[in-house]
Amino acid sequence: MNVYSDQRAAYRDRPGGPQDLFFAQSDTVPRPTFVRGEGVWLYDEAGRGYMDMSSGPVTANIGHGDTTVAAAMAEQAGRLAFVSARQGRHQANMDLSERIAKLAGPGFERVLFASGGSEAVEFAIKLLRQRALSSEQPERRHVITCMPSYHGSTIGALGLSGDPANEAFLTGFGHEHPKVPAPLSYRLPDNHTVETHAQACAQALDDKIHELGPKSVLAFLIEPVGGLASGAVAPPEAYLRTVREICDRHDVALVFDEVLCGAGRTGRFLASHHYDGIQPDLTVLAKGLSAGYAPLGAVLAPAEMVDWLSERLGFGYTHTYSAHPVSAAAALAVLDRFEREDLAGRAERVGAYLRGKLEGLAGRSSIIGDVRGKGLLIGIELVADKATKATISSNPGPTDAVRRRGLEHGLLVYARRTAGGRFGDWIMATPPLIITEAECDDLVIRLEKTLAAAEADFRAGGTLG
Ligand SMILES: Cc1ncc(COP(=O)(O)O)c(C=O)c1O
Repeated sequence: MNVYSDQRAAYRDRPGGPQDLFFAQSDTVPRPTFVRGEGVWLYDEAGRGYMDMSSGPVTANIGHGDTTVAAAMAEQAGRLAFVSARQGRHQANMDLSERIAKLAGPGFERVLFASGGSEAVEFAIKLLRQRALSSEQPERRHVITCMPSYHGSTIGALGLSGDPANEAFLTGFGHEHPKVPAPLSYRLPDNHTVETHAQACAQALDDKIHELGPKSVLAFLIEPVGGLASGAVAPPEAYLRTVREICDRHDVALVFDEVLCGAGRTGRFLASHHYDGIQPDLTVLAKGLSAGYAPLGAVLAPAEMVDWLSERLGFGYTHTYSAHPVSAAAALAVLDRFEREDLAGRAERVGAYLRGKLEGLAGRSSIIGDVRGKGLLIGIELVADKATKATISSNPGPTDAVRRRGLEHGLLVYARRTAGGRFGDWIMATPPLIITEAECDDLVIRLEKTLAAAEADFRAGGTLG
């Protein structure tokens, strides 16, 4: 019985709490009770600080405790807390749509708001389905996605996500959409480079479209820079270009899920802005858009598509909280800071600095196999053996030990074993975009101690092979 299970026992019979009783008992990483946040730091009830090295689940892009965002939310809530999008318009929604459309650029004149990433992903797919029905193509129903990938946790979004660990849950219950291999970059098939493997993955998409019948395919949905499911794999530009061509050739919509990589994290407002001429049909945003201050997701769409649709079936599949005024006010204040402090530029600059430091750490640590990503979206792959790239065999996966040891060193790490570890294990180095170089140095010092302690755990447990 560790400290955490003692805590659980104490709460077990208390009405209402705590929330973590819903998680599996096998999850033994402590969850501190946080009471305050400021910048890149979160503080628990004992006043202990933890550096938020992953921005929560890659969300707190402008850091914690921004009182101007809080004031904008309070002002909006005091004046007009809620109006249903079905019954009326409100200024915050109009201002935010316009602001995002400007930041996103041509091809994204229309913005549809949701309460979070999963909902927004589903909005994008439902929008395309409604377009297919409006154009009398009801047979278009398959959404091809990557294995591995993550697109959310609603029953629909789980079926879009590429994670074999969800198979039992979905079988005979949810709809699993077809999968093609993701262009992973660390463990490559024999005789392949990153580039040739990525092209083979693009070819697999073309093959899959042919196999299903091009007229039955609604969309290809992909994270242009991977998140937790791949540990921040940034595919070669040529892969995304080929994927765009394949979708065009078959009249299949290309959707970029930028829930995690969007809103400035990779060094541009949209990750797609890195690539001239590679424009998806729809882009999905969430997380960093409101930076954790309020729940928000968004679908960015071309005026042409939305206006055409609105003259036919339209799109009515919204929710009670779609385009919530307080979330819109929060996002507007977040974007004020984002633009004022050029946080996309900072993500690129400070991201390069942090990446350099982490590569240095990888040279010193025997359990870091790879450091990859774009801007301040960095994945750190953990291995038992750098030469063979063997994974660490600890159960339930090495990231739990890293998270636990991180807490002891004042570091809050986001990681979760995905796909049962089949594609590897990694942690996310995705701090708030406001992080300074000095704070990056501090992060790396804490991480080095954390990994050394976790490595000692793995050695003691005999899980390094
Ligand atoms: C790429 C991606 N898509 C969708 C989602 C789902 O977003 P949410 O958790 O806000 O529903 C996530 C969440 O982690 C994500 O990383």
